[in-house]
Amino acid sequence: MKRRKRKKKNKYIISILLFIILSIPLFIYKNQIIDYISLLNSDYNKETIKVLKENNKFKYINSKKYSKTLEKIVNTDYFDSKYIDSYTEINYKEEDNFLENIASLLNIGYTSDDINNIYSKLSNDNITLLKNNKYVDKISDILELSYFKDNLLNRYINYYTSKEYNYTDAITYVNIGLDNEYYTNTTNIDNKDDITVLVNKYHNLGNDYIPSDLVDVNSSYRTKENKLKKVANDNFVTMADDAKKEGIKLLVGSGYRSYKTQYDLYNYYVSVDGKKEADTYSARPGYSEHQTGLAIDIVGSNWSFIEANTKEYNWLIDNSYKYGFILRYPKGKERITGYIYEPWHYRYVGKDIATYIHENSLTYDEYMARK
Ligand code: DAL
Ligand code: ZN
Repeated sequence: MKRRKRKKKNKYIISILLFIILSIPLFIYKNQIIDYISLLNSDYNKETIKVLKENNKFKYINSKKYSKTLEKIVNTDYFDSKYIDSYTEINYKEEDNFLENIASLLNIGYTSDDINNIYSKLSNDNITLLKNNKYVDKISDILELSYFKDNLLNRYINYYTSKEYNYTDAITYVNIGLDNEYYTNTTNIDNKDDITVLVNKYHNLGNDYIPSDLVDVNSSYRTKENKLKKVANDNFVTMADDAKKEGIKLLVGSGYRSYKTQYDLYNYYVSVDGKKEADTYSARPGYSEHQTGLAIDIVGSNWSFIEANTKEYNWLIDNSYKYGFILRYPKGKERITGYIYEPWHYRYVGKDIATYIHENSLTYDEYMARK
């Protein structure tokens, strides 16, 4: 009985020992075994697997991690082992020069996420443009902007990489046209009769435009004979009536000005102050908002144009947007509007836009550039 028990015990010990001994190689070669199993499972071709092994990137061998980009680039001159991780993250595109392009973009410093964004948002020509340029910081954020315009990429790159602006401002300013000198690269406005028409140093109304629905401003709301577009006049009257209830007098000092009037005015200023100076405060003919009948130089009770920090000024800053008017040339935005601060010059744009501009402290130029 005792002998049988001992024998059983020995057998048991031998089995355990045998198990341990047999397990040792399994344990030692665990990684290789796993690799071998995953190798059998891998969707990669032999060359790719070889490169992955040489670079200790076993984790990618498993078929779950299959990347066509990696497999396609491995045996080309564009392959660089330091980008193996990035290749696996880049969505493969069956497009001309894809491998060459991603190699260049990676070398410039773009991440795989950037490259996926670049490929999903840009045309081939623009991808070529990017890859031939220096690194553009925040490219993915730039491409996300609703007001990013594909056809302006070259100008964005030049402006953004040479100026100190953050990317949202840089893109906005190029959309406005500020990377070109004022009065260069100008366009003829085609929605001249819209209340949202943008008139600035890059958009002109031409010498023959006269608004179709001008009305005379009633004599009790003006300092001299003046015309305005009907909608601007109606809203000014309502605004002036409400202001009056609070002891604020508002009058139209200058409303609609024809091309000819602006021509004479601008040339007069040039004769007095010289062109450079005149350009800071007077629009050239065809480029004045006053020609739309939507702009008003507002005068207060002392019959002079509204000055900053007067009671009329403060009232207008707090209330004009409710009637659809915005301060068109604000302080600190001179570079954007192209004009010195004009506390008296208001522009009718409609209540919704005026409210948005008021709440976001924008100029009309910025608003339109981000629309
Ligand atoms: N003073 C403004 C800019 C104009 O001349 O239209
Ligand atoms: Zn004005």
